[in-house]
Amino acid sequence: MSPGHRWYLAGAFLSSLVSCTNAFYLPGAAPHDYHEGETVKVFVNALTPMLAASDNAKIFHFCEPDGGPKSEPESLGSILFGDRIFNSPYNVSMMRDNTTCHVLCRQDVPADDAKFINDRIREDYALNWLVDGLPAAEMKVDTKNGDVFFDMGFNLGDDEGAYAEMPALNNHYDIVFKYHEPQPGSDVYRIVGVLVWPASIGGNQDSDTNCDTSEDNKFILNEETSNRVRYTYRVTWSESDTPWATRWDNYLHIFDPRIHWFSLVNSVVIVVFLCVMVSMILLRTVSKDISRYNAIDLSEEVQEDWGWKLVHGEVFRTPQHPMVLSVLVGNGAQLAAMVGVTLGSSGAFVSCIN
Ligand SMILES: *[C@@H]1O[C@H](CO)[C@@H](O)[C@H](O)[C@H]1NC(C)=O
Ligand SMILES: *[C@@H]1O[C@H](CO)[C@@H](O)[C@H](O)[C@H]1NC(C)=O
Repeated sequence: MSPGHRWYLAGAFLSSLVSCTNAFYLPGAAPHDYHEGETVKVFVNALTPMLAASDNAKIFHFCEPDGGPKSEPESLGSILFGDRIFNSPYNVSMMRDNTTCHVLCRQDVPADDAKFINDRIREDYALNWLVDGLPAAEMKVDTKNGDVFFDMGFNLGDDEGAYAEMPALNNHYDIVFKYHEPQPGSDVYRIVGVLVWPASIGGNQDSDTNCDTSEDNKFILNEETSNRVRYTYRVTWSESDTPWATRWDNYLHIFDPRIHWFSLVNSVVIVVFLCVMVSMILLRTVSKDISRYNAIDLSEEVQEDWGWKLVHGEVFRTPQHPMVLSVLVGNGAQLAAMVGVTLGSSGAFVSCIN
């Protein structure tokens, strides 16, 4: 069994332990091949900064799927990160409905809840969605070097400029799915990016489908009366050259790729200091032993071993559980080698980009 296999099995075992449901999947373990018309599931996650979706979902009055939101099985990693993943009412089919405007639902927001939502917008809360294991992101540009990157999550509303007093609620989502065809013409598509441009559309919320976003017609929740909100969305399928294997590269953006010399030197000094301390202690113990052995009277017949000399008896003794020992040693060697290689190559990488 290859080491990769072992990790895979360990992961599968852990996730089956944790989710204990009939279906588990390891996100990102294997590409999902979509065919034209296949349903693409959009999951919703907790808002960040953290606000558990289940406790507060009712106050936000977001659109809910038929029968209420259902919790989705999660991986161990996402449980540790505090994700709360639920299904959503978005009806997305692969390569279908390109740029069609849909009304998701209309909701009534009472005055109290409007105040709650506006406060969350002022606190810059962001929505998080998951599609095929990828987080929905906003496309941003690093002002320092002009790099384009994907910033996970997108804003609940807009409280900049003219909307600082009364923030605008984003009630429209322009969703761009970036897809890649491994073999052109084979009806196999893979999702390699999910971008969302949230927008706010004001006007009569009971009127027909309207996805025209304009800067001076935003939707503002009135904190005095009950409000009617229309949630709309529009899906665009956009071809991308990014293969599935490197789809995460856009998300993993390093803002300031400089070596942090100070912390590097700091750690090196601590490591050297600890090494010196331990070797001093060892040296003192051994030299104390040696001087004690040198001092004993050679005429004495029977001598008890003590100190470091006792070790020679232990080294050649067969361990009680040789199998456990060899497994531990083998795994430890693999981990150590892995850490070494990872540190070595990331070090090489960092010195390359500088
Ligand atoms: C989802 O959209 C498809 C068309 O793309 C439509 O045929 C289907 O009825 C829709 N399903 C729901 C639940 O609205
Ligand atoms: C969807 O529409 C956009 C904009 O009109 C276009 O660029 C894109 O190629 C279309 N995608 C498909 C799959 O037709």
